[in-house]
Amino acid sequence: MEEDQVIAMPRIGDMAPEFKAVTTQGEINFPNDFRGNWVIFFSHPADFTPVCTSEFMTFASMEDKFAKANCKLVGLSVDGLHSHIAWLRTIKEKIEYKGMKNVEVKFPLIEDISMNVAKKYGMIQPQESTTTAVRAVFFIDPKGVIRSIIYYPLSLGRNFDELYRVLIALQTADEFGVATPADWRPGDDVIVPPAGSCGVAKERMENKNEDVKCYDWFFCTKKLDKETLEKKLLKK
Ligand code: BEZ
Repeated sequence: MEEDQVIAMPRIGDMAPEFKAVTTQGEINFPNDFRGNWVIFFSHPADFTPVCTSEFMTFASMEDKFAKANCKLVGLSVDGLHSHIAWLRTIKEKIEYKGMKNVEVKFPLIEDISMNVAKKYGMIQPQESTTTAVRAVFFIDPKGVIRSIIYYPLSLGRNFDELYRVLIALQTADEFGVATPADWRPGDDVIVPPAGSCGVAKERMENKNEDVKCYDWFFCTKKLDKETLEKKLLKK
């Protein structure tokens, strides 16, 4: 592989790489302007394309839901600002899709014609496309740490319920000191303690705590009801 083809990929646990950029909502200094909030920073391949349009309409329709979970959205593509503005205006004025219409995208959409930001975040994946970003999703916590990363190819629109689920699961792990099992959704049992401290799990297995259920010494869950979770995580 040529030297200039080696693209650094930020990893889970890394500080989100810093950059300044022009967006549809003015200039931003990332991630510093967002400290104290969770951020979903995502890329899309191109303005005026169908999959991206369906995604932006869905994300914009869910913006308030993410805001309630203290999460801001920031988008990026390698298009320029005028293209972004024209595309978002078209979405608002002309597109009706799956019951969504008049959809206003209020979150910032970064212009990245140079691809500098996209390259910094490993959003350009040359075997998929050398000229556009793939559909990358970075979950960044209030301290600016990357907590989860999901990549999708150009042809595959994202599942926004899953993006919300990932956000809430990360926040749940932080707030309650637990892990979340396969297909977990708020209201389902959570795993105690997080992997790595099996001794505590063994003690739990011997206890008669009705909220705790142990499947074996290394695998215990407990109840965490949806109301408690929402009270802790969601703004009114
Ligand atoms: C789309 O958003 O529809 C799309 C963009 C780039 C390549 C393929 C599909």
